[in-house]
Amino acid sequence: MNNQETIVEIRQKIDIVDLISEYIPLVQKGKNYFGVCPFHNDTNPSMSVSREKQIYKCFSCGASGNVFNFLMDYDHIDFKEALKILGERAGVELNGMTLAPRETKFDRYYEMYDIANKYYQNNINTKEGQRARKYLKSRKIDENLIKEFGIGLALDKNNAMTTILGSKNYSMKELEQMGLSSNNHDTYINRIMFPLCDINGHVVGFSGRIYDNSDLNKYLNTKETAIFKKGECLYNYHIARDHCRKVKSVIVVEGFMDAIRVSQIGHKNVVALMGTAMTTEQMNLIKKLSLNVYLSLDGDDAGQKAIIGIGEQLEKMGLNVKVITLPNNNGEHDPDEFIIKYGKEKFDSLIENAVNYSDFKITTLKSGVNFNSDLELANYINSVIKEISQIKDEIRREIILKRLAIEVNLSYNTLEKRLNEYLEFQKVVNQEVKSKEVKASAKKINKYEQAAYVLIYGMVNDPWAIRKFEKEDVHLFTKELRSLASEICYYYHKYGTINMADFYTYLADKEELLRVYNFVISLDYEDEMSVKAIEDCIGVIREYNVRQEINRLRDLVKNENDPIEKAKIAERIRLLKIGE
Ligand code: UTP
Ligand code: MN
Repeated sequence: MNNQETIVEIRQKIDIVDLISEYIPLVQKGKNYFGVCPFHNDTNPSMSVSREKQIYKCFSCGASGNVFNFLMDYDHIDFKEALKILGERAGVELNGMTLAPRETKFDRYYEMYDIANKYYQNNINTKEGQRARKYLKSRKIDENLIKEFGIGLALDKNNAMTTILGSKNYSMKELEQMGLSSNNHDTYINRIMFPLCDINGHVVGFSGRIYDNSDLNKYLNTKETAIFKKGECLYNYHIARDHCRKVKSVIVVEGFMDAIRVSQIGHKNVVALMGTAMTTEQMNLIKKLSLNVYLSLDGDDAGQKAIIGIGEQLEKMGLNVKVITLPNNNGEHDPDEFIIKYGKEKFDSLIENAVNYSDFKITTLKSGVNFNSDLELANYINSVIKEISQIKDEIRREIILKRLAIEVNLSYNTLEKRLNEYLEFQKVVNQEVKSKEVKASAKKINKYEQAAYVLIYGMVNDPWAIRKFEKEDVHLFTKELRSLASEICYYYHKYGTINMADFYTYLADKEELLRVYNFVISLDYEDEMSVKAIEDCIGVIREYNVRQEINRLRDLVKNENDPIEKAKIAERIRLLKIGE
């Protein structure tokens, strides 16, 4: 069996509706299934999945593909990995299948970081690592954890990192670009090194912590490089990924130490923000890990404030956010310190008793309010009702509102009236936002482009259109469209058949063509295209080509000095115009 046949076999054995519903909830409507698209920010069901065609597409962001594409995009993995996972699931042997590992322009940088990482990891076990080991021990980081998290050590020793990488033929310029060295001096000196990985598990940066008395910054992070963007990184993401899917939740903490500790007591579905700020990219990553998020930030003011901001944004993205509050009484203000002091069971019960984000927010609204002041009380009531209006579940809204009525000793009806006003206002705002989004996303496609797209769509849907395309010798306007059409013809003749889902995979390593194909499929044309529709398209394309040719000839006429040549060209224009 050749590669393509194996790929098709795997694709046919895995139903796309079954696969996608393991990642996002799908609801059947007519022939298709719908869900919230995981590839852009949304809470509306804009993704449709077709069992018949075995593809998915999103009407809003234009993502589309087959089972392999879904897995690749969802998990940020390459085709080879997706094939391995789905091959196993389908029970299809991949033996003998040779797929070259995908090379990237960053391979050299990954290798560089790999060398650095191994060197730092080795240092910690040497004699010179003794003090660092002692420090880690005092912080209850044992040998297993050091190994598991790849913790290493940068020494204070003659710029060893610079020398080693230099001897492996990395230039000084590359070392500087990658943030490992500057002016022949090591960037990291005398620090405990936490490797930072990208979503695929490549080491792409470090955070180095001071460990003996020093006035330097506590952590020194790799600068932004071609392969490392702090704002797009979550500590422990690649490890947490599978665990999050299994337990259907993700725990978010602030620091490395917190993530390591929470993982150590068995919650391997943990990631760290590396501070209290969360970027949009990080939020999107979290959404991919799970729709159920536990925020377990530090108990200090910065942490508590961050929960309010982060929680609100995550909820807006459609996630269910719960907050774990650390009793901030004895100075232990982060999960690491809490667990060391009180143990696993106590932390487990904090998770169990985590409160909904909205309840957390409402509780914080109350702090500092003087209930004897009419003004402060009214403000408090209004802000709570505003918060309630954000809750989607009607029953929860009523429960909280009833509680509030009792608390502030007002009639339920008065409060309900105010809530309804907020809900009404909310609706108007949502509609406005939506209509703006629709306007922004509606790209203008002219009739010539439209004709080409319909034709391509028709060709992957019905070989008749391929034969017609070839017979009529249609010339499409852009290089991409021409290459795409020619690949479709090639595929059809080689395999004797063509299908929308398999063609995605065939295009896998032809990025530019895949993008065009993706776009065409996302346009969602009729599946039953009439012969006339295809013929009309070919007519429109031909009309365009004639017009282009006429324009070209007109330019020629202008620049031609020989009167006889001029007349010849003019005659060609005349013939084209009357359709000869
Ligand atoms: P914390 O100060 O809470 O650090 O900062 P921590 O993880 O608890 O570490 P220990 O317990 O003091 O050893 C939270 C996170 O913010 C980032 C780090 O990612 C840290 O884990 N941070 C903090 C920096 O990047 N630079 C700093 O100077 C401080
Ligand atoms: Mn801390």
